[in-house]
Amino acid sequence: MGTLHFAEGDAQKLQQYLPASSTPDPSPQSRPWVTLTYATSLDASLAVAPGVRTALSGPRSQAMTHYLRSRHAAICVGVGTVEADGPGLNCRLATKTGSGPRHPRPVIIDPRARWALSEESKVIRLARAGQGLAPFVITTQMTPRRERVELLQRYGGKYIFVPLDELDTDGRIPWTVILQEIRNEGLLSVMIEGGGQVINSLLSVPNNELVDSVVLTIAPKWLGQGGVVASPVRAAHEGGCLTEVARLKDVEWIPLGEDIVLCGNIGR
Ligand SMILES: NC(=O)c1ccc[n+]([C@@H]2O[C@H](COP(=O)([O-])OP(=O)(O)OC[C@H]3O[C@@H](n4cnc5c(N)ncnc54)[C@H](OP(=O)(O)O)[C@@H]3O)[C@@H](O)[C@H]2O)c1
Repeated sequence: MGTLHFAEGDAQKLQQYLPASSTPDPSPQSRPWVTLTYATSLDASLAVAPGVRTALSGPRSQAMTHYLRSRHAAICVGVGTVEADGPGLNCRLATKTGSGPRHPRPVIIDPRARWALSEESKVIRLARAGQGLAPFVITTQMTPRRERVELLQRYGGKYIFVPLDELDTDGRIPWTVILQEIRNEGLLSVMIEGGGQVINSLLSVPNNELVDSVVLTIAPKWLGQGGVVASPVRAAHEGGCLTEVARLKDVEWIPLGEDIVLCGNIGR
């Protein structure tokens, strides 16, 4: 996999949707900046079927994703994405100095510690080669398998334990807790890349209040029915009417090759 180039002019257009390059003195209680970013088809699909890796973005929007990775301290995905795609979660952006890109810290939500990570997992191979960082895995399992704990530790990763009494009524880890755990690691910004469950829960009320910006790539193709669709839970009735869940404000549409990138801040 070669290095990627992202044009300075395109990067400029994204600035207002990105965390500040340096933050003065954030309090430990403040939550990290959250950018929700993903790619969909014209029929709002993230993948052609559950668990199937599906190429959507063209080369310019792929380079944009790596630019976003260079601008965030952490990159977060659910275990479903790790199992389906085996992603590298690193940054392959070319740098002017030749010193190599800044890699985000992968954060994987894996409540049951089911990810069968090994020396051959792409994210571990990249960490071993100095081309990425080893992941922090957020789990509710007090004792994940010892060989996995040791493997993560070998490369600077770890499991982060969330006690069961912190789960919400659906047995999920609340996003406030996930973000606090990320913040506790000194990570001040996170881009959340997927997959379906993660995106849909973050777009739903009330979690969408935690999202600072959305950077959405739309590819000019239809994937058809049965895909993994990006669509939040429908909002509660207000005065008997169905209402929109959320909308974007401060919107910019940025054409990148054949794709269009939609940027905005969440407004309700
Ligand atoms: N187009 C894109 O931009 C894009 C990006 C990423 C992924 N994808 C695609 O999306 C698909 C994967 O999506 P997915 O919905 O199957 O998986 P996912 O959202 O990546 O991961 C879902 C799993 O993560 C865990 N999880 C997530 N949030 C949690 C929370 N708040 N509390 C507790 N556990 C939580 C749960 O694990 P347990 O099941 O163990 O409880 C859940 O089943 C793949 O086909 C992939 O290719 C597309």
